[in-house]
Parts: sequence; structure tokens; C-alpha cells
Amino acid sequence: MAMACNWITTVSLVLWLSFLVIGAASSSSPAPNSSNVDGSNTDLATLLAFRGQLSDPLGILARSWTTNVSFCRWVGISCGRRRERVTVLSLPDMPLQGELSPHLGNLSFLNKLNLTNTGLTGTIPSDLGRLRRLTYLSLFGNGLSGSIPGTLGNLSRLEFLILSNNSLSKQIPSELLENKKGDIQVDPDVFMSHRLISYRELALATDHFSENNLLGTGSFGKVFKGQLSNGLAVAIKVLNLQLEQASRSFDAECRVLHMARHRNLIRILNTCSNLDFRALVLQYMPNGSLEMLLHSEGRRQLGFLKRLDIMLDVAMAMEYLHHEHHDVVLHCDLKPSNVLFDTDMTGHIADFGIAKLLLGNDNSLITASMPGTLGYMAPEYGSLGKASRKSDMFSYGIMLLEVFTGKRPTDPMFVADLSIRQWVHRSFPSELIHVLDKQLVQDASSSSCNMMNEFLPPIFELGLICSRDSPDQRMSMSDVVVRLTKMKEEYIKSTSVARQTVFQ
Ligand SMILES: *[C@@H]1O[C@H](CO)[C@@H](O)[C@H](O)[C@H]1NC(C)=O
Ligand SMILES: *[C@@H]1O[C@H](CO)[C@@H](O)[C@H](O)[C@H]1NC(C)=O
Ligand SMILES: *[C@@H]1O[C@H](CO)[C@@H](O)[C@H](O)[C@H]1NC(C)=O
Ligand SMILES: *[C@@H]1O[C@H](CO)[C@@H](O)[C@H](O)[C@H]1NC(C)=O
Ligand SMILES: *[C@@H]1O[C@H](CO)[C@@H](O)[C@H](O)[C@H]1NC(C)=O
Ligand SMILES: *[C@@H]1O[C@H](CO)[C@@H](O)[C@H](O)[C@H]1NC(C)=O
Ligand SMILES: *[C@@H]1O[C@H](CO)[C@@H](O)[C@H](O)[C@H]1NC(C)=O
Repeated sequence: MAMACNWITTVSLVLWLSFLVIGAASSSSPAPNSSNVDGSNTDLATLLAFRGQLSDPLGILARSWTTNVSFCRWVGISCGRRRERVTVLSLPDMPLQGELSPHLGNLSFLNKLNLTNTGLTGTIPSDLGRLRRLTYLSLFGNGLSGSIPGTLGNLSRLEFLILSNNSLSKQIPSELLENKKGDIQVDPDVFMSHRLISYRELALATDHFSENNLLGTGSFGKVFKGQLSNGLAVAIKVLNLQLEQASRSFDAECRVLHMARHRNLIRILNTCSNLDFRALVLQYMPNGSLEMLLHSEGRRQLGFLKRLDIMLDVAMAMEYLHHEHHDVVLHCDLKPSNVLFDTDMTGHIADFGIAKLLLGNDNSLITASMPGTLGYMAPEYGSLGKASRKSDMFSYGIMLLEVFTGKRPTDPMFVADLSIRQWVHRSFPSELIHVLDKQLVQDASSSSCNMMNEFLPPIFELGLICSRDSPDQRMSMSDVVVRLTKMKEEYIKSTSVARQTVFQ
């Protein structure tokens, strides 16, 4: 099959490493003067060694980097306030031309290294892996070649690693992928942004779309787990082109995910599209869905705070789509099976196959096509096809009730005149223990925390308000984020106070 596959991602070239700082070890006690002086000398020697490898055609370094003034005042250098140690080396867009000195690894206080578009060649020295305070590293837009050193996996504080627009090998070092210090989210489009993916490669990645790699089957096609040749695990959604709807769904999902970027939204990495084959390459989520977390056999214990966190993840992504994105995006099918988890159990909203954009000043639109899912669908959306931010709010409210009751809205106990909402409402606010997920009952009645009186009423109230029949009476996603954030803070405070009391 001859394929013309297009990259839709050409712009974002950021390898985003997000590390959870676990008990950040503080090493900031003032160093004795003698080592201060030594350190300062090392920095001076390092900068001179760095300069020595560069040809500096405009003579900027030759003029500014002179030893009759402190290096803290050299162009492109910043020092810390307390010590004469280099914390920033930033010379973007300045022609330097030459190779990076391995001595840079000695700048032990360096926090930011920005050498974007500076005409560097040669390889990235593995010594950069010793810059343990580094949070930002950009070598974007140079002529660097060779492989990305695995030692960069040692940089536990790194948040941005921007290496694209070089001639580096596309292999992602396993040390970067496997760093266990926190959840590294490798944003793979750096490595793929100028490379074409083919049907053949997707077939290879999925062992010819083998059933063994099947993650799920939906109405529009199948989703496979795949491993690209650079080692990256991805989810590959293959559309069933016999269905006209599938193409539309493909277009909707591409349009939304291509524009929208948020830590709690699933990322689209690439697409492969021609007349008889269409696929989306998506971020792979190894830890299943909220649906599985809540309802699978032998489900694990899921605490109150974790549930709050998950619903906050969902709310933040939806707030972004509803209020912060230039076009309002409606998801139209929010439900627990569309919330997926990464290695760190951070929630990501997936499946934008029926998402809609609100254009201009519109607050709602009428759609004749595919409604959402029974149980989560707002009444006006189900009956009139009227989609709006408030119809997403309804689905969110139902999901919130489901997360804290452990009951699906489609549970057989909910029949014609008893919905999950009415069932919760009957116990609100003083009898909530009867509707609370059994897993939480123990927590709720333990004396260490006032969950029963302090936290259950507001959380269930939020679910009830969001799922009101009348769209106008539902809350907005921004208000939900504010309330949940506050609740989370108070819950953490109250449990830590309780813990202190126990230990006193
Ligand atoms: C270290 O610095 C302090 C204050 O800056 C000074 O009083 C002290 O004499 C210095 N010690 C040495 C060994 O230089
Ligand atoms: C430092 O020396 C350079 C020449 O080596 C001179 O151009 C510059 O003015 C001097 N700067 C100061 C602050 O003395
Ligand atoms: C690094 O330099 C680039 C190019 O000038 C600039 O766009 C970017 O904001 C800089 N990054 C930081 C963190 O200063
Ligand atoms: C700086 O780093 C280089 C190479 O990593 C090393 O050989 C050298 O000994 C170091 N210099 C100092 C002063 O620590
Ligand atoms: C840094 O990374 C390299 C290779 O990934 C590893 O061999 C080395 O032990 C690491 N060093 C430290 C100090 O963690
Ligand atoms: C990256 O490099 C390519 C090819 O050299 C160039 O066309 C493109 O404009 C560069 N991207 C950026 C953002 O500078
Ligand atoms: C999440 O996935 C990682 C890696 O696949 C696994 O080690 C971890 O145990 C999972 N966590 C949960 C809560 O399932």
C-alpha cells in the first residue's frame, strides 16, 4: 500500500520532562568561604574553556568576557544572589560556531542553559548530565549530531529539554524514558517532528495490527498499542473507513487535539491519512481508565483524596477547553471510560471523536449527529441535540457522583423514576454515608478526619449542582476548579492536623 502520510505536528518541538520532585533534598546551606572561592574559580575556568571552543565571529565574547570584571557581569551570564556562581548561561541567537566544551559539566550551580540558534556543531557532551541543578536546557536550532546522551536521565530537576532542529539521532535514550525519579513525560514530537511515519511503520509497531496489541474497539475503529522504532510506546487509533461517521470523527479529533495542549488532555502525536487508511498516533496511557479503576473486579483501594485529584484533573482540562482556549471546545462524551491514566496516575481526557467547536459568540449548537452516552448525556442534549458547555457540565456532575458513590448512572438499581442524581439527593446532606462508595466508608467514619461532616456534603453538592436539569442552573467549569482546589487544600490540612494530633 503506497502511503502519503502527513505530519500534523510541525511546530511543537519541546521535549517536556516533568518530574515530580520527591522530597526535594535541600543543599542550599551556605558553603564555607574557601569552597566558595574554589567554586567560583571553577566557574571562571569553565567559562573560559567553553569560550575557547567557539569561534565567536562577531567578537561579542571576546569583548565582554574579559577577566578584569567578574564573570557575573559578562554578557549572557547570571549568578546567584548569595554566591558568585553561575546560575544562567544564556546566549540565544548569537553566532558562536564551534563545539560544546565538556567542561560545562562543572557549572554545578547552573539552572538554565539556553544556546538556541547559536551555530553549534559536534555532539552533546555527556558531562551535561552532571548539571544536577539544571531545570532548562535548550540547544534548539543548532547543527548538533550524534546521539542524545543517556546521562541526561540523571537531571532530576529538568523540566524542559529542547533539542529539536538539530541532526541528532532520533533514538530516545532509555535512561530518559526509564527515569524513575518522577514521572517523565517524554513529549515525543521532538523526535518525530521532521520524520515521516508510514503505514509500514505503524504495521511494524503493532505487529501487523495484531489482536495481541488491541487496546479497545469502539464504534469508529480499533485502538492498538504500538512501539515505534525509537522505542516510544504509543496508542494507534485506526479508523474504520467503511463508516462515513468515522472520517468525521477522525477530523474532529484531529482538529481538537492538534490545537489543544494541556497536561490533562491526551496528546496527538501524529496522523497517517490517505484514501484507504487513516490512523491517529496518540500518547500511550499505561494505567487504564477511570471506568476500570472504579468498577473492575478486585479493584484497588482508591482514597478520597485520589478521587478528588482525578476529578480536579478532569475539571482543569475541561476548564481549559471551555474557557481558556481560543475556540470553545465541547467534549460531548465525558464519562469515566474516557479518562485515562499515565504512569503517575495523572488523569487525561481522551476520545474527542464527537467533540464540537463553538464558533464566535455562540453558546450552544444543535447537532443531529451522534449523541453522547446514555446516563451521562444532559437531557437537552439527548432530546434536542443541544450541545453547550452546560451539557458537558451535566456529564461532569454525573461522573462526580459516580466517582464518590461507586455506582454507574446505568446501574440496574436506577430505574425510570430514580436516577443516580435523585438517589444522592434523597440522602443529602445528612445521610450521605448511605450513598458513599463502600471503600470510603471506613475512612469517613474514622475519627482522624471529619470527612463525614466537612467534606462529603460539599463534594456531593457540587455533583448535584452540575447535574441539574436546567442548564442555566449548572455551575461553570472554572467555578468547579476553584471549589475543588479549595476542598483539596482543606482536606490535606485537616488530615495532616489529624495526623499530628495522633502522634503527639
Ligand atoms: C568567611 O566569611 C565571613 C563573613 O563573610 C568572615 O567573617 C570570615 O572571616 C570568613 N572566613 C574565612 C576563612 O575567610
Ligand atoms: C577590561 O579590559 C578590556 C580590554 O581587555 C577593556 O576593553 C575594558 O574596557 C576593560 N573593562 C573594565 C571595566 O576595566
Ligand atoms: C531561550 O532562547 C530562546 C530564543 O531566543 C527564547 O525564545 C526562549 O524564551 C529562551 N528560553 C528561556 C527559558 O529563557
Ligand atoms: C571540569 O570538567 C572536565 C571535563 O568534564 C574535567 O576534565 C576537569 O577536570 C574539570 N575541571 C575542574 C576545575 O573541575
Ligand atoms: C548518570 O547516568 C549514567 C548513564 O545513564 C549512569 O551510568 C551514571 O551512574 C549516572 N550518574 C549518577 C551520578 O547518577
Ligand atoms: C527548523 O529547521 C527547519 C529546517 O532547517 C526550518 O525550516 C524550520 O523553520 C526550523 N524551525 C524553526 C522553528 O526554526
Ligand atoms: C501505573 O503504571 C506503571 C507502569 O506501567 C506501574 O508500574 C504502576 O504500578 C501503575 N500504577 C497503578 C496505580 O496502576
